[in-house]
Amino acid sequence: MIRKGVQWVVKDPEKENVFWPSEELKKYANMSDEKIYETAKKDRVGFWANIAKEVITWFKPFDKVYEENLPSFKWFIGGKLNVCYNAVDRHIETWRRNKAAIIWEPEPVNEPNRILTYNDLYREVNKFANVLKKLGVKKGDRVSIYLPMIPEVQIAMLACARIGAPHSVVFSAFSAQSLKDRIEDAQSKVLITADGYYRRGKVINLKASADEAVTGTTIEKVVVVKRTGNEVNWVNGRDHWYHELMNDVEDYCEPEQMDSEDVLFILYTSGTTGKPKGVVHTTGGYAVQAYLTTKWVFDLHDEDIYWCTADIGWVTGHTYACYGPLLCGGTQVIYEGAPDTPDWSRWWAIIEKYGVNIFYTAPTAIRMFIKMGEEWVKKHDLSTLRVLGSVGEPINLDAWMWYFNVIGGGRCVITDTWWQTETGGTIINSIPGIGPFIPTVACRSFPGVEHDIYDEKGERPAQGDSGYLVQLPPLAPGMLRGIWGNPEKYKETYFGQYNGKVYFSSDGAYFTEDGYIRITGRVDDVMKVAGHRLSTGELESVICSHPAVAEAAVVAQPHEIKGEAPVAFIILKPGFTVSQQLEKEIIDQVVKGIGPTGKPEKLVFAEDLPKTRSGKIMRRILRALVRDEPLGNIMTLQNPESVEGLKSAIGYKGPG
Ligand code: WTA
Repeated sequence: MIRKGVQWVVKDPEKENVFWPSEELKKYANMSDEKIYETAKKDRVGFWANIAKEVITWFKPFDKVYEENLPSFKWFIGGKLNVCYNAVDRHIETWRRNKAAIIWEPEPVNEPNRILTYNDLYREVNKFANVLKKLGVKKGDRVSIYLPMIPEVQIAMLACARIGAPHSVVFSAFSAQSLKDRIEDAQSKVLITADGYYRRGKVINLKASADEAVTGTTIEKVVVVKRTGNEVNWVNGRDHWYHELMNDVEDYCEPEQMDSEDVLFILYTSGTTGKPKGVVHTTGGYAVQAYLTTKWVFDLHDEDIYWCTADIGWVTGHTYACYGPLLCGGTQVIYEGAPDTPDWSRWWAIIEKYGVNIFYTAPTAIRMFIKMGEEWVKKHDLSTLRVLGSVGEPINLDAWMWYFNVIGGGRCVITDTWWQTETGGTIINSIPGIGPFIPTVACRSFPGVEHDIYDEKGERPAQGDSGYLVQLPPLAPGMLRGIWGNPEKYKETYFGQYNGKVYFSSDGAYFTEDGYIRITGRVDDVMKVAGHRLSTGELESVICSHPAVAEAAVVAQPHEIKGEAPVAFIILKPGFTVSQQLEKEIIDQVVKGIGPTGKPEKLVFAEDLPKTRSGKIMRRILRALVRDEPLGNIMTLQNPESVEGLKSAIGYKGPG
């Protein structure tokens, strides 16, 4: 049974919980009415066709807009384009030539920043495209990229796009083994990496992991960017310095004429269990969606400074810290390091330093800042901010309100963007200038996209009841076209549920009274408690709405009678201490918010929870802890030491 009735979305009495865009924003966005949604809804394919013609420079126009035989579907058929040309070349043909494309902020505070204009980017990308060609990379060959947040990561991606070689970017904090798995699956020919990078003041020797990963794989050449100057191991003939190769090539490389449906990139999902899946994105549809969503969702204007904090190793980094802003000719900030280096005010210092107008980050980060206290934020002037974005997980009310009031000064809209590696760009969110912005509610499908919520039988559950979020065809142009080398898995994962008729998102959601979409979290992390479905995200949000709670993660523990029961791991805000009273309050809050079935079996209070380097709580480890299962490799965590404390707190006995 899918849970009934949801009362726990607390209304803010003063603002009634709904924030419409300010008049100023409406003016910026120039679309203060519903027409855009109506127009798109009447003819979704036509809507995207018009946009595609307007926002992309095609070498050859497409003959047909959309074709579908699910699970396969195509957009802009017969069209020829190059994403690098669209992201770089066409800007240097305009006044944007000397506009800043990338403002890079290194982690060490004393090191100068680097600013690349579109013209600089053009030069670098052309040369690097020639480097790749010289190394033997041809159209269709895969290139793996294992780089930190330095401009060379965007240069490398764009150079690949320029010559039609799909890139596979692997998060720089992933282990050698993860990189190896991804190289082997993609059968990459070349790896681009760096000697090292800075993280919390330390030099991380990236080349050492790269060396370990490439041995015995298809990698023929390794290109190494000199970032930190630390000593590295060198394999003559295989390894080449980036700067040396760049000295020895022509300045111009003709962009490859790519078919709209040619592969642009492969991106592996972080896959905590089993083999990682290589999500395949193609050229035309992805470019159109990346452009339009960046432009509209973030209301990106030419004079804006935009900053998405996501690492390039994730899809958010691909679309919103590389392709989207560059396709729009925007100016973006990228930051190499940790948010707490030299202290917890670093991000806010960066916003002040560059006058950032648009800021896009994840709820986890926000919750961390809540925990650290407002004083870090108050040190800096954030008055340039206009639009705030949230992504990656459901944002709880507390985090939303704090983001709105403390970061946004009660002045900026928060666009809560729901999407996935698979969707290529955001597809459920409110648009500045239109709204509404309802805390914790992602709201509505992006114009030209349509979602529904189904129960197990493929029917819409009663209003307010949770079901499965599905996307109705015609599918959005930026959707994945497959899983690299595994068509069966693609079919089964995304189209297996409802007879191949819709895209299955693996997320739970419900329609609010006003008909907006509220995401409840992954259904594959779903719990069945006494026959009831409970989503971890939902439980966490309720727990986090308690004033003492900074962060919470809920996992399912096997339960003799109920099948499964939730265990909540909780980090308290400074100034709060564990007490029976507090425990009771939190449990009452859950019972009140979700019902007695959601009642946690156990509350585990911790100083810290195991997190990935990108800041996501590793629920896999919490799950293993509560089940006495093997913990697996914990060394890739941001904070492996956090696991020790938890072991004793929950009496972990280990397997067997
Ligand atoms: C979750 C990240 C609630 C969701 C772009 C999805 C969200 C998964 C939101 C994809 C949001 C992402 N509200 N949940 N605004 N954004 N998610 O592939 O469960 O890393 O299925 O893509 O993150 O994660 P992925």
